Amino acid sequence: MSTTTSQDEQAEARRGAFSGRRVFILAAIGSAVGLGNIWRFPYVAYENGGGAFMLPYLVALLTAGIPFLLVEYALGHKYRGSAPLSFARLSRRTEGLGWWQVGICFMIAVYYAAVIAWALSYTVFSFTQAWGEDPDAFFFGDYLRAGDPGVTLEFVPGVLVPLAVVWVALVAVMALGVSRGVGATSVIFIPVLIVAFAALVVQALTLPGAAQGLDALFAPDWSTLADPAVWAAAYGQIFFSLSIGFGIMITYSSYVHRRTDMSGSALVVGLSNSGFELLAGIGVFAALGFMAQASGVAVGEVATSGIGLAFIAFPTIVNEAPAGAVIGVLFFASLVMAGFTSLVSVLEVVISAVRDKFETSRVRATLVVTIPCALISLIGFSTTSGIYVLDIVDHFINRFGILLVAVVSMVVIAWGVRALPRLRDHLNRDGSVPVRGWWIALVSVVTPLALAFILVRELLAVIEEPYGGYPQWMLVVFGWLAAALVAVAGFAIARVPWRPETSLDVGDRPENDTTARSQP
Ligand code: ALA
Repeated sequence: MSTTTSQDEQAEARRGAFSGRRVFILAAIGSAVGLGNIWRFPYVAYENGGGAFMLPYLVALLTAGIPFLLVEYALGHKYRGSAPLSFARLSRRTEGLGWWQVGICFMIAVYYAAVIAWALSYTVFSFTQAWGEDPDAFFFGDYLRAGDPGVTLEFVPGVLVPLAVVWVALVAVMALGVSRGVGATSVIFIPVLIVAFAALVVQALTLPGAAQGLDALFAPDWSTLADPAVWAAAYGQIFFSLSIGFGIMITYSSYVHRRTDMSGSALVVGLSNSGFELLAGIGVFAALGFMAQASGVAVGEVATSGIGLAFIAFPTIVNEAPAGAVIGVLFFASLVMAGFTSLVSVLEVVISAVRDKFETSRVRATLVVTIPCALISLIGFSTTSGIYVLDIVDHFINRFGILLVAVVSMVVIAWGVRALPRLRDHLNRDGSVPVRGWWIALVSVVTPLALAFILVRELLAVIEEPYGGYPQWMLVVFGWLAAALVAVAGFAIARVPWRPETSLDVGDRPENDTTARSQP
């Protein structure tokens, strides 16, 4: 047995590992397919030119999404660590980038759990249509008890209880570890999700008015292509939806056997995620077409944004459609399953980093991470002001967290430590998709420039007009400070020394080991 193999086996025993490439791909798809696909994509596409949005979306997928996914796969797989450990092994000076991603994941986990809790409640409500005749008033009034924007500590039991249930389930899954917890969750949920969602789409397509819904989604408004905001929306959607820039894909690929086809896996995951996203767009807009026809209005009037689309439009559809309860259960249960597997991956970034840095047990790391995260989530998002804080954190952390860390990472990897040729060779060693100069050109020049342009625009937009019309102090605290805090805290934690038993030289070992390639 080669030295590499036995060291790998020791590391796998200590850190955990996926049992094979199939489980890794399912877990990566489980991470990618989430609230972003079902809840966010349909209205982002609709608001940004409908059919014409598909062009910037595809460009963003091919020029930034898959290339950056390959960067994260190469980093995690070559350096075999959580995001901070992989970055530290790449170069000691880059560790802070990994912790920055860990901070972003912590932030996302606290609010992402709340949306899953709402979806859990709504799965149950679907059976009896508990929202009554006016789902809008029910969601904001009876269910969330949302008052004016601000901060209150008035708890809403209807949200507190399902949110606590979500966190208990998360603690249990995370404590079970990489194979029995993280991997097994996706192996079970993803096939069920695909069947449930396909059934929903088929049912939605048979509703009267479905064709008008699809027309509204796909009828291209080409004039929107001249608007940089549309391109910003496409790049933002791809990063959130593919789970890149979070450190998730670095972490997951560190759990895969050394001799695995990573470039082929990236293509499978990237295309599956976009395929699911398209399916979600079709299902949601077919249902909206029905709703518009039933209420005698244009689809544009029922296609409200984000939270409204899922928690207001869908209940209205359930009220009016034949077998509405089935549509409701399928839709909200899909949201729960897709969201849960994504949230597991977000938490795994944090737990894996804590384990690597402090050489602590799985259960201890799980508790150290999930208890504060759950408490912040419960206190922050089961109160009457939760929805506003959620909207602000989501907006800022996506732009000035995920996109910013992605562009900084690309510049550092390409120009600071000049690691792209190494990473390319690593991907090509066992990869089925040849990674060549095109990838280096995209990651070192094209994508950082595109993202930098988008970020500057977003910065100017948010300075010109306060986001969402919220009070300035809320934007400062939950937007700017939250985004800054994760970066500053990340670089501060990077100064804590590694334990003596943690080797930082793993990726430098010769790569011509003789271990067999992992089978799919
Ligand atoms: N990729 C995950 C989503 O789409 C985070 O929700």
